[in-house]
Amino acid sequence: LVLILDYGSQYTHLITRRIRHLSVLSLCISGTSSLSCIAELKPRVVILSGGPHSVHTDGAPSFPDGFLRYAEENGVYVLGICYGMQLIVQKLGGVVTVGEKQEYGKMEISVEEEECGLYGPEALGGTQTVWMSHGDEVVKLPEGFTVAARSLQGTVAAIENHSKRFYGLQYHPEVTHSPQGMVTLRHFLFDVCGVTADWEMQDVLEEEIKVIKEMVGPDEHVICALSGGVDSTVAATLVHKAIGDRLHCVFVDNGLLRYKERERVMSTFQSDLHLPVTCVDASDRFLSKLKGVKDPECKRKIIGREFISIFDDFAQELEKELGKRPTFLVQGTLYPDVIESCPPPGSGRTHSHTIKSHHNVGGLPKDMKLKLIEPLKLLFKDEVRKLGSILNVPESFLKRHPFPGPGLAVRVLGDVTEGNALEILRQVDEIFIQSIKDAGLYDSIWQAFAVFLPVQSVGVQGDQRTHSHVVVLRAITSEDGMTADWYYFDHKFLVDVVRKICNNVRGVNRVCQDITSKPPATVEWE
Ligand code: XMP
Repeated sequence: LVLILDYGSQYTHLITRRIRHLSVLSLCISGTSSLSCIAELKPRVVILSGGPHSVHTDGAPSFPDGFLRYAEENGVYVLGICYGMQLIVQKLGGVVTVGEKQEYGKMEISVEEEECGLYGPEALGGTQTVWMSHGDEVVKLPEGFTVAARSLQGTVAAIENHSKRFYGLQYHPEVTHSPQGMVTLRHFLFDVCGVTADWEMQDVLEEEIKVIKEMVGPDEHVICALSGGVDSTVAATLVHKAIGDRLHCVFVDNGLLRYKERERVMSTFQSDLHLPVTCVDASDRFLSKLKGVKDPECKRKIIGREFISIFDDFAQELEKELGKRPTFLVQGTLYPDVIESCPPPGSGRTHSHTIKSHHNVGGLPKDMKLKLIEPLKLLFKDEVRKLGSILNVPESFLKRHPFPGPGLAVRVLGDVTEGNALEILRQVDEIFIQSIKDAGLYDSIWQAFAVFLPVQSVGVQGDQRTHSHVVVLRAITSEDGMTADWYYFDHKFLVDVVRKICNNVRGVNRVCQDITSKPPATVEWE
């Protein structure tokens, strides 16, 4: 195991993912975790991440007392990156000062000629471009350390004490702007630390199935809310493989789904995945509660509450049918949610829930007394897709764009029940998405959708003056939905889509494109 201690760098997840891509399990925990928590995980390598702090600030986060002694005594390799390296230096009696010249962005470094632990023989004596982002600099090494690389300005870029197995990089090897960074990391992990590349998704699957079988007793039942998204589908498919039809899934049609969404996902659940799933048509329930409601937060809260109430009803029905209460609930929680739920102090990272109250099943009431099964909680999205593929979830399903829990309610601005807004939006959205698929662009776009505006504009169609609706097309690229750029369509694509929409959707006479990134906008309009 490679354990990452997180001090709040924006790249911490990236290091974890990069190492996993080398087929090595890496986990990330808070940089201020206790020594017993670190030791319990029995890491072979501990990486101290970068972070926004200076080691000189009061209360700057650090590893627990005794950590370096523990590492030395137990043969654990320690690599500090940026802030992590400065922590090692300071704790071992070296000197870190506020640098005269701050180094940000791409830099050239030269690697020393002498054989060392951090760099393989091919790198010795050469230069490399790396990504620096630091204000402080190491000016005196702790005893027993040597410099392995310097920037061309002469600042220390890499250090090591090979016999104690302590190493430090002032730059970020994990980012693509450090082109040789992964070569260095690979050499370090495999050749120096002797880590083996044995973490495969097939093993993760088998291990999870074993754990679930042990956890759920032979007479116990499990429930799961399927949203039609990748995470809940993969989680349910995995649990189904472990305990068969003692899993009971529910899919709620809230009347806010996309064009033919219910038929499409139900067919995948039943025909492709053979999941035991009940479809509850609750459109009337949702839409009557939403009638006349214009405030986005109110809409979200109403939808969240209604989901919970329907889920509760489902659990009660099951109890009647089975003669006992289901005891477990499956959730498709992913690793970033786990990490984000306890961001290190001062990292500036907060839960996105503060911007919009996102609906997902995470909002279920505590008094449901269900124990959780979260089989994906150590995985990133791309890993979930890999797992889904092993579980034979159709590729087209795994690649679907994200869709928000409150569905089209956050894409029809204002009152969703007014006129035939939902129906118009469904048709526009379907034309837009189908055109994107036909143009072979679907997989290059993180998310694309249409938005219905509660305004009407004047137009002219077939010599007639019209006073009809305005819709907006939005397509973005993103890594994780936290930040996003708008997607650049070529001129012809846009001309064709707009023509198709205006010719085929009654009630629309104007189409706009949203070219705002996030920030300042959010992805969804509400
Ligand atoms: P925003 O609009 O917050 O969206 O920039 C970021 C990503 O989250 C999705 N989203 C949601 N997902 N429940 C969800 O499960 C929600 O309530 C919700 N609201 C937004 C959005 O589609 C985008 O991918």
